[in-house]
Amino acid sequence: MSNENPIVEILDVHKSYGPTPILRGVSLRVQAGEVIVIAGRSGGGKSTLLRCIDQLETIDSGEITVCGEAMAGSTIHLAPGQMARLRQNLGMVFQQFNLFPHLSVLDNIIAAPTKVLGIPRALATAEARVLLARVGLPEKENAFPKQLSGGQQQRVAIARALAMQPKVMLFDEPTSALDPEMIREVLDVMMDLSRRGMTMIVVSHEMSFARAAADRIILMHRGQIVDDLPPEQFFTAPSSEHTRQFLAKRLG
Ligand SMILES: Nc1ncnc2c1ncn2[C@@H]1O[C@H](COP(=O)(O)OP(=O)(O)OP(=O)(O)O)[C@@H](O)[C@H]1O
Ligand SMILES: [Mg+2]
Repeated sequence: MSNENPIVEILDVHKSYGPTPILRGVSLRVQAGEVIVIAGRSGGGKSTLLRCIDQLETIDSGEITVCGEAMAGSTIHLAPGQMARLRQNLGMVFQQFNLFPHLSVLDNIIAAPTKVLGIPRALATAEARVLLARVGLPEKENAFPKQLSGGQQQRVAIARALAMQPKVMLFDEPTSALDPEMIREVLDVMMDLSRRGMTMIVVSHEMSFARAAADRIILMHRGQIVDDLPPEQFFTAPSSEHTRQFLAKRLG
């Protein structure tokens, strides 16, 4: 692994909800272009970690730096406008697609670029069409979310995130609300994104995707990273007993 500055750096992050520790000293460095897949038992803190990176949650201690800019830490107090600007480095895709139900596919995609970035509508529309083609939905720009399958909605959600030109994409179980036949089409879009060099942190239990796409697979257990390994090692020689148990359960 190169020694260049990481695009995402998480240093000894702790977070509790009330008295309950959820993240217990998480550190993670992600280089530009890397794909990280995070797996682990329910309740281990995977979603909380992504939400802390995206500043949807505050941290109790530690530091989070994205694209060389400190976003969270004991000495970091950003004004809302500054925080909003830094958050534009990050795109997030959730399990539930969260599209605006009253807006067409096209308007879902151009809403933030036109309102937040001030990109002229014609240009945003042209860019949205390129993205819709990339996610395999060139003919759906006038459809409304409820007219689309779950897999199609999730691909629109990915296009919508990409329209803000993020440097890092965060995915929280993007396929776990989908019927099996729709999972593949979403994973194919994510695979394409990784081939294009996007930096991605993906919470997923799709181990075939992880094997094919990930540079490193992480196992989180009770708020800690207990393994952080390239796929070959993760599957054949994990260091943690928790990873062995996870794999035994997942891979049978
Ligand atoms: N807003 C909250 N308030 C209190 N507790 C919370 C909150 N959000 C999450 N938790 C708790 O934090 C722990 C970690 O939750 P988190 O959602 O990060 O786990 P996860 O690894 O994503 O699990 P899953 O695989 O089920 O999605 C859980 O015990 C959860 O109940
Ligand atoms: Mg979760």
